[in-house]
Amino acid sequence: MPGRLRDKVAVITGAGMGMGREAAVLFAEEGARVVVADIDARAAKETVERVEQAGGQALAVVGDVAVEADVRRMIDEGARRFGRLDILYNNAGVLWKDRDRSVLETDEPSWDRVIAINLKSVFWVTKHGIPELRKAGGGSIILMGSVSALAGFTRAQDAYTAAKGALISLTKSLAIQFAKDRIRCNVIHPGIVDTPLQAPYLTPAIRKEFETGIPLGRIAHPREIAYVALFLASDESSFMTGAELVVDGGFTAG
Ligand SMILES: NC(=O)c1ccc[n+]([C@@H]2O[C@H](COP(=O)([O-])OP(=O)(O)OC[C@H]3O[C@@H](n4cnc5c(N)ncnc54)[C@H](O)[C@@H]3O)[C@@H](O)[C@H]2O)c1
Repeated sequence: MPGRLRDKVAVITGAGMGMGREAAVLFAEEGARVVVADIDARAAKETVERVEQAGGQALAVVGDVAVEADVRRMIDEGARRFGRLDILYNNAGVLWKDRDRSVLETDEPSWDRVIAINLKSVFWVTKHGIPELRKAGGGSIILMGSVSALAGFTRAQDAYTAAKGALISLTKSLAIQFAKDRIRCNVIHPGIVDTPLQAPYLTPAIRKEFETGIPLGRIAHPREIAYVALFLASDESSFMTGAELVVDGGFTAG
């Protein structure tokens, strides 16, 4: 298949829904073979079907990104099936506004689980994925940050915010350490994106409030983030590493 990711293999965590699914289909349309890693077996299977409908190849691997053994299996099964790994897209994440609130209101299990899924997962994916990128002669690591890491909000999600902030530092550390291996690492900071993650919270009133605060006047479609990930995954971004790309409709510029 021709395309901007021709001959590349991408692992995308959280590819069962939302931005991860959108990226899986787009990457496949651009020639990549995709490892769809997700905790939700049915959702992962459906993404694989969508990739196949688009003429691509994908493998569903079910597991919890917070658990090292599961991540090792995701990486191993992906590399075995497709023969190499070139792209590690650390997209999986959770936003639990009911349990993850201000430091004054959040309990320890909620803090631990949110940090494990949104931050520790990247530690496992890179720990087990970087040796595969090295074998392939280089690669691209993409982290999924958030504008939550760049600005404070009165409606706090402090565990989520802390995890996303830590990803900025981890991006730079990985970029510097592995540049010699031709492995690049960059982080994307989306603003509000219309996905299942946001759906429970996007009441008409909240949606209106968000749209009013965004200079472009709307929230993002998942494909608008997937295109940025595609650029970072492809060789078109070959001189970019350690960078942060803000994709927020102008929100943080205001
Ligand atoms: N939607 C937004 O407005 C927004 C804004 C900024 C950043 N983000 C970030 O973008 C990423 C994707 O968000 P989304 O909105 O597409 O989310 P989503 O909820 O629509 O999809 C997330 C996917 O991750 C999977 N997942 C959740 N926990 C997992 C685990 N422990 N192990 C493996 N898979 C797991 C889910 O099953 C789901 O398929 C997240 O990191 C999120 O924090 C989202």
